[in-house]
Amino acid sequence: MTTKRAKKIGRRQFIGAAAGAGFAVMKPQWVRGSEANSALRAGLLGCGGRGTVDARNLIDTGKVRITALADLFEDQLEKAAAYFNQYQRSKGFAPVAKSQLFLGPKAYADIANSSAVDVVVIATPPYFHPEHLAAGVEAGKHVYCEKPVGVDPYGVNRVLETGRRAEGKLSLDVGLQVRSAPPFAELMRRIHAGALGTIATGEAYYFGTAIERPSWPNASPAERRLRNWIYDRVLSGDIIVEQDIHAVDVCNWALGSRPIAANATGGRKARTDPGDVYGHYNAIFSYPEDVTVSFTSTQFDRGWWDVNERFFGAKGVSQSHYSGPVAIYGDEAWSWDTAGSPLTPESKSFSPAGAFRDNLAQADAEKMNSFVSSILTGDFHNQAQLGATATLSCILARQAAYSGRRVSWDELLRQNERWESGIDLDRL
Ligand SMILES: NC(=O)c1ccc[n+]([C@@H]2O[C@H](COP(=O)([O-])OP(=O)(O)OC[C@H]3O[C@@H](n4cnc5c(N)ncnc54)[C@H](O)[C@@H]3O)[C@@H](O)[C@H]2O)c1
Repeated sequence: MTTKRAKKIGRRQFIGAAAGAGFAVMKPQWVRGSEANSALRAGLLGCGGRGTVDARNLIDTGKVRITALADLFEDQLEKAAAYFNQYQRSKGFAPVAKSQLFLGPKAYADIANSSAVDVVVIATPPYFHPEHLAAGVEAGKHVYCEKPVGVDPYGVNRVLETGRRAEGKLSLDVGLQVRSAPPFAELMRRIHAGALGTIATGEAYYFGTAIERPSWPNASPAERRLRNWIYDRVLSGDIIVEQDIHAVDVCNWALGSRPIAANATGGRKARTDPGDVYGHYNAIFSYPEDVTVSFTSTQFDRGWWDVNERFFGAKGVSQSHYSGPVAIYGDEAWSWDTAGSPLTPESKSFSPAGAFRDNLAQADAEKMNSFVSSILTGDFHNQAQLGATATLSCILARQAAYSGRRVSWDELLRQNERWESGIDLDRL
């Protein structure tokens, strides 16, 4: 687990410490005024599906207000402003001031530098995460950055550097919320305590449904790529990095490690939407101590989906479905008690925005409560390394599939490949 705990200091002390360390000084009236005792002020960068879920979850902690919004596109910004103004009004909170609505290619810098913001949520396409995260931390803001943290080793290294700058001064969380789901946390506690005995091998899969998006026929090619970034290799990192990362991260978590190398294949055979991301992957991850994990994913399934990891040990077998059993079979048999939450068609539905029910029902709320609490107590998180490791693990298999040969972690780091989108955001 790479969430580090900084030296315990109170929130007021933190404000002084951060200012002394050269970070942006928060407005004196905020520090002294009633706001200081009531709510953190958060800005949402990237006002789409997941960002809206993240920001609403922040409000639902009861300790945060959304005070700023930023997006590349006006319609997205307006939609989010209408949504959050209504949501906050329904709770008796102020709407977002018009001066705190930031639009366009520099909106990421404007929201990072806003004096009306203490926390930035980054839910833009993955390609932009290293730059957007650096801007937030540079401006002295706590940051919640969606996964993956980047699309290439160069970007991931930049995130690690940003993480070093944030260390002990700011909270930096990455959206790998499965780790906050109580059934998964309990399963891992048992696996780490030895419930499976020596683990020989594992298998994991992320079988997802097709992701439907409007086709934007009248947009320029560059705008169409950005609107449908999820179909675009460079902007998304491809499905194994963008979506499958949750399952690969669970494998890292279970094994307390990360892959040394990977072999993989993949393609677009059954995928019908436009773009160049693969529709399926088959990978073999080599972990330390001769443990291999076979991993399969799809992103076109119709009428069915499943996400799960299985580990096979000398004493037992585990599995951990998003929706279905989270259990250990064998000498130390155990199963998460779902008696109080029977599966319904609704609880089993797939969520492209990551708002799953069933075994992940509490994941988002737990994750956000923990992030907010880390800021208010000064017990800061730093998940840059966690996010970087998960992202690179997936990049490893992607590069193995693209090249058709085994790729090692060391090679990936050595080559430090950098991807360019070729998009000029000023000329869409
Ligand atoms: N943790 C989870 O379970 C989960 C679930 C879904 C998505 N995600 C992640 O959240 C992020 C966003 O995904 P989404 O599904 O919300 O996408 P989305 O397309 O619905 O939203 C992205 C938003 O970012 C805006 N945007 C694009 N480029 C921008 C730029 N350069 N500057 C400012 N705004 C920009 C878009 O206009 C859009 O409003 C991705 O990293 C994705 O992988 C995480």
